[in-house]
Order: sequence, then C-alpha cells, then structure tokens
Amino acid sequence: MTKFTFAIMGATGHIGHHLTEELLKKGHQVRALGRDARKLQELKTKGAEILSGDFTDSSLLFKAFKECNAVFSFIPPGLNADDMEVFREKTAEAIAQAIAKARVSYVLNLSSIGANLSSGNGPIKELHHQEERLNSIENLNVLHFRPGFFMENFQMFIPSIKNSEMIATAIENDLPIPMVATSDIALKISEFLDALKFTGSTVFEFVGPRDMTMAEATKVIGKAIGKPDLKYTQLSYEQAEEKMIASGMTHQIAKLMVEMHRAFNERKIRLTQQMTAEHKGKTTMEEFSKIFSQIYNLIKKAA
Ligand SMILES: NC(=O)c1ccc[n+]([C@@H]2O[C@H](COP(=O)([O-])OP(=O)(O)OC[C@H]3O[C@@H](n4cnc5c(N)ncnc54)[C@H](OP(=O)(O)O)[C@@H]3O)[C@@H](O)[C@H]2O)c1
Repeated sequence: MTKFTFAIMGATGHIGHHLTEELLKKGHQVRALGRDARKLQELKTKGAEILSGDFTDSSLLFKAFKECNAVFSFIPPGLNADDMEVFREKTAEAIAQAIAKARVSYVLNLSSIGANLSSGNGPIKELHHQEERLNSIENLNVLHFRPGFFMENFQMFIPSIKNSEMIATAIENDLPIPMVATSDIALKISEFLDALKFTGSTVFEFVGPRDMTMAEATKVIGKAIGKPDLKYTQLSYEQAEEKMIASGMTHQIAKLMVEMHRAFNERKIRLTQQMTAEHKGKTTMEEFSKIFSQIYNLIKKAA
C-alpha cells in the first residue's frame, strides 16, 4: 500500500479529528491543522505533525500544503467571526491561493448539499464559490464532497432543550432531510484519500441511512435523554430569526441561517445524485442519539 502525506484542515473539528485518526491508522503521514495548538496535542501523541494558526493566513496554509500528496480543505463555520461572510470568503481565498502556490495535485474539498446553487442558500453560498475557485486551478484533481445536514447540529439546540423543552427552527416539521453523522463523513473521505484515484473536478453527495424530518429526529433525541415528550416546533421565518438573535447570534448569521432553512422548505436545497449504498453512512439517528445524550448530560452536569 502506498503511504501518502495529507494536510487536514480543522483537525480538532467534527470531521477533521476522525479523519486524522483514520488516516494515521492506515499508516499515512498527517499534518493536522487547527487554530489551537493545545487542542492539537492529542493528535500529536497519536503521530500527527501539528500546525496551528488562523486559516485566513495563506502563508500558514502554504507551509502546511507544500509537498503534500493531498489536502482536505475546509472552511470553518465562522460563527464567532465579526462578519461571517467576510471571514468565510477570506478563508476560502487563502485556501485557494495556498493550493495553487504549493502546486497541490489532489484536494478533497468539504462542500455541502445545495452548493450547486449560487445564491439563496445562506452560508452554503461560499461553498459554491469555493468549488468554482478550486475548479479554476490548473492541473488540480478536486473532489467536492457534499454532505447533508450534520446530525451534530442538534448539539446547538441543547440550551433550548434545557430552557424550553423544545427544538424550534423554521424548517418544516414534516420535511424529510438528508441527515448524516460526521464520523461517517470522515470515514468515507478517508477512503477517497487512501485510494487517491479521483481525477479532474468531481462532486460526491453523501447522506445518512435514511432521511429524517425534524419532528422525527427530535423524538429520537428526546427519548435518548429521558424527555420522550420533547417537541419540535416549526417557527415562522421572523420568529426563527428573533430566537437566534436572542440566543446570542449576530443578525447577519441569523439571517443567513433562515435563508438556508427557507431554501430547504422550498425544496431548493436537494440532492442532485442517485443515493446508492456508497453515498450512505451507516450511523442511524438512534445510534447518534446515544452520543448526543452523553454530551447533553455532560453539559447539564457542568451547568
Ligand atoms: N453543519 C452542517 O450541517 C454542514 C453540512 C454540510 C457542510 N458543512 C460545512 O462544514 C463546515 C464545518 O462545520 P462544523 O460545524 O462541523 O465545524 P467544526 O467541526 O466544529 O470545525 C471547526 C474547526 O475549524 C477550526 N477553526 C475554526 N475557526 C478557525 C480559524 N479562524 N482558523 C483556524 N481554524 C479554525 C476549529 O478549531 P477549534 O477546535 O480550535 O475551534 C475546528 O477545528 C461548515 O463550515 C460548513 O461549511 C456543514
């Protein structure tokens, strides 16, 4: 088996940490990138080389990408940035510049379902532009990996569950949504990187074992945390925006999130490929809810 060197962005994040560990297990060399050197230490003890700094810094990325066989490129959510859109655009540009300068041959780019749309899709818009930026780099083999809604997103609702015994967004309660566990995403990406066979510019959509509505997912999660009556409430777009702002989000981010939820409701964000078995992770919402429950209890204890 050929052993490669990979640069993994967001190595302390949901996908990045699973992916780094998976690639190390397969015997590859990994340069794990994150913004916090202390949080990266655990990966260092597992054999990764670590690099820390801000992903808007193209020179840091160039250093990490130089002489790598492939890069896992990733734009952080930017939920704490003063201006989320500016942060995501600056990061995307820094990534593209560093890839071109380091003459990287293979990039597995984390994108999202809905990135086929150039506008009206909230934070996914930048992922559309990033796909285009990377497609314009000469001699680059790039696979745009477009996963569905992360099951881990439900962790954002923990304060609402604790304070008001409900999960509430503007997403329709009976709209089936492709939900997927980030550990399954990491596993699939590790297979693509281990083989390194993709050529040109391609797209790959990836979902969970079955689509779920917000109401169904809320029921499963409620049962796992001992709240079988936990309710999902569909809010109006205005109510949803106000609720997010009240919870501490900036007006800009709340607007972008509502725009994305509206695009789901209007069936604009939808799959464009046939979801055969290779496009599906194995983790069910029932299995994920056990992990959710552990995190919920830890947070409850700490509060
Ligand atoms: N959420 C979804 O449903 C969904 C669906 C499809 C695609 N996506 C895409 O997936 C991306 C990741 O989402 P996530 O919520 O799962 O992220 P996450 O795993 O929580 O990852 C954040 C990672 O980025 C690092 N980071 C954050 N800001 C940084 C900065 N300024 N410079 C360097 N590193 C920084 C974090 O470091 P620390 O550990 O130090 O914080 C962490 O490693 C999103 O941005 C989105 O584009 C999301």
